[in-house]
Amino acid sequence: MARPKIALIGAGQIGGTLAHLAAMKELGDVVLFDIAEGTPEGKALDIAESGPSEGFDAALKGTQDYADIAGADVCIVTAGVPRKPGMSRDDLLGINLKVMKSVGEGIAEHAPNAFVICITNPLDAMVWALQQFSGLPANKVCGMAGVLDSARFRHFLSLEFGVSMKDVTAFVLGGHGDTMVPSVRYSTVAGIPLPDLIDMGWTTKDKLDAIVQRTRDGGAEIVGLLKTGSAFYAPATSAIEMAEAYLKDQKRVLPCAAYCDGDFGLNGMYVGVPTVIGAGGIEKIVNIKLTKEEQEMFDTSVKAVQGLVEACKGIDSSLA
Ligand code: APR
Repeated sequence: MARPKIALIGAGQIGGTLAHLAAMKELGDVVLFDIAEGTPEGKALDIAESGPSEGFDAALKGTQDYADIAGADVCIVTAGVPRKPGMSRDDLLGINLKVMKSVGEGIAEHAPNAFVICITNPLDAMVWALQQFSGLPANKVCGMAGVLDSARFRHFLSLEFGVSMKDVTAFVLGGHGDTMVPSVRYSTVAGIPLPDLIDMGWTTKDKLDAIVQRTRDGGAEIVGLLKTGSAFYAPATSAIEMAEAYLKDQKRVLPCAAYCDGDFGLNGMYVGVPTVIGAGGIEKIVNIKLTKEEQEMFDTSVKAVQGLVEACKGIDSSLA
């Protein structure tokens, strides 16, 4: 049986890291697509040359031709521009919307049966636009944000509690921006909810509030340190986790930007929610109950995403 095919649209910092991870995990053969001549070819060759030492079997190809992504099982989209210090994710909207149009058309023509994971920011609006431009079924197009935001939350919590990250579970809901909603109530250490850990005296509400804020600012913290771009190791790892869930039909329960139509009381929009990812793509949206306070935060986040979607419609009339 032929190996699965993974197309990476965008061969920059995240795209290159995705290719390396996909090859090392032997998820399939990898095609790196980018408009920058030489970049995808160079990265593909460099990673292929790490194969003998690492011992993986995967073919890697770099290209500027969409025809090379033909029949891809998974497409992961990072094409566009990343943030610089002082920029918000929303500042990227105009440029990256145009990129989503060409990417959506390329995928529609050459890989219409793929499971598509968008990473390009501002995420929730870009994944919506990508689905519109590509016309692929909404359950096959999703955005990577919740896995990354939850990983950041889990990392900070494991430092606070001095326990393994493996034993910390966490959920982050809402849009991938300043209004995201890290859920304290649904996050646990070995199944013990965070509020119980406050009661047990293991941490304080103030400390958890600070961790929630650091999670919300997690992307900006990295941008501030790197100065020349945004995070790429953890974003790539997060998307690979989602791709693997699809390719291996793992039925993983992962938060991601999914199309909610009736879910969470929303009418046809993308926002970060818990989902089940398996061979059917986004197989299920887990409609957890929110408290009044959580609902208010979620509503604020939804409004922020709706504002960006309206801005997209203002820029490109074919989306209206
Ligand atoms: N088609 C294909 N590739 C494109 C296009 C296009 N129309 N426009 C730009 N690109 C490529 C660039 O040539 C570059 O190689 O997208 C790549 C983006 O890579 P980086 O600039 O290194 O950005 P990266 O850090 O990988 O982030 C990509 O993900 O997290 C988000 O905010 C981030 O939107 C950004 C995206």
